[in-house]
Amino acid sequence: MMKSANHKHYHWLNPPSTLVALLIQILALFLVSSSVIVFTLDTLSLFEVSLLHGTTAATISYQQKMPKWWMFIHLAFSPALIATLALSISPIWFLVSFLILILIQGKTFQTQVPLYLSSNKAAEGLTSLLPQEKRFSLIDVGCGCGGLLSQLSKTQPKGHFFGIEAAPIPYLLSKLRIMWSAPNCNVQWGDFWKHDLAPYDVVYAYLSPVPMKLLWQKACKEMRPGSLFISNSFIIPGIEPEQTIELNDLTGSRLYLWHVFNY
Ligand SMILES: C[S@@+](CC[C@H](N)C(=O)[O-])C[C@H]1O[C@@H](n2cnc3c(N)ncnc32)[C@H](O)[C@@H]1O
Repeated sequence: MMKSANHKHYHWLNPPSTLVALLIQILALFLVSSSVIVFTLDTLSLFEVSLLHGTTAATISYQQKMPKWWMFIHLAFSPALIATLALSISPIWFLVSFLILILIQGKTFQTQVPLYLSSNKAAEGLTSLLPQEKRFSLIDVGCGCGGLLSQLSKTQPKGHFFGIEAAPIPYLLSKLRIMWSAPNCNVQWGDFWKHDLAPYDVVYAYLSPVPMKLLWQKACKEMRPGSLFISNSFIIPGIEPEQTIELNDLTGSRLYLWHVFNY
């Protein structure tokens, strides 16, 4: 049984940065179109207006202290849109690309956790941390395409590996991946916020900075004290990791370790 009754609030505590970005785009559109009318800038081409719009949106994003990479998205969005429209590509291709993106990324706009995959070095680092002689269970919350689970299940025959994934295409790929090759592995389609973490000895998370604090609180409510919480790349704000392991992979990732305790 879940120890925490209501999981709804986990999603909505942080205002989604996609929503803030949309508001910035709309505000920039309003400012630029007002300027075009007031200062009679109607000699500008549509592409030049889009450059003005991109620059305005990027400036607002900077002033609002959004993460730096949003500035580049704001800067490029309108000019890229206008340039693409000039190519006269059939609208159906935009719809198809959008649907494929949704099937791959799931509700990223809500979770603020995109898909990127753990490196082989992460699997090696984890292998060195997991029990060799004892039976144990590990859950990868947001297991992506199941690569990490399938690798671990091969090197750790005493372990039982579980994954939960919300995005349809990564879930199907991970299901196919483990179907034949990993008998000690199981993957489920769903939302890890609604999944009880109590049965697991180890939680592995490779997510984003956004959910870390709430995920730690969920782990501390549900897991046995002394269970392991391992995060790839993202720390828990305000909780010093007990151990940090440099993976020396291409993205310079680190594994952070904590033992779960009850507050
Ligand atoms: C950064 S990827 C990590 C993939 C995999 N764990 C790995 O290490 O290779 C994070 C994954 O978490 C999934 N995800 C995000 N929020 C989720 C949620 N609430 N429930 C289930 N999966 C979620 C995303 O769809 C994405 O595939």
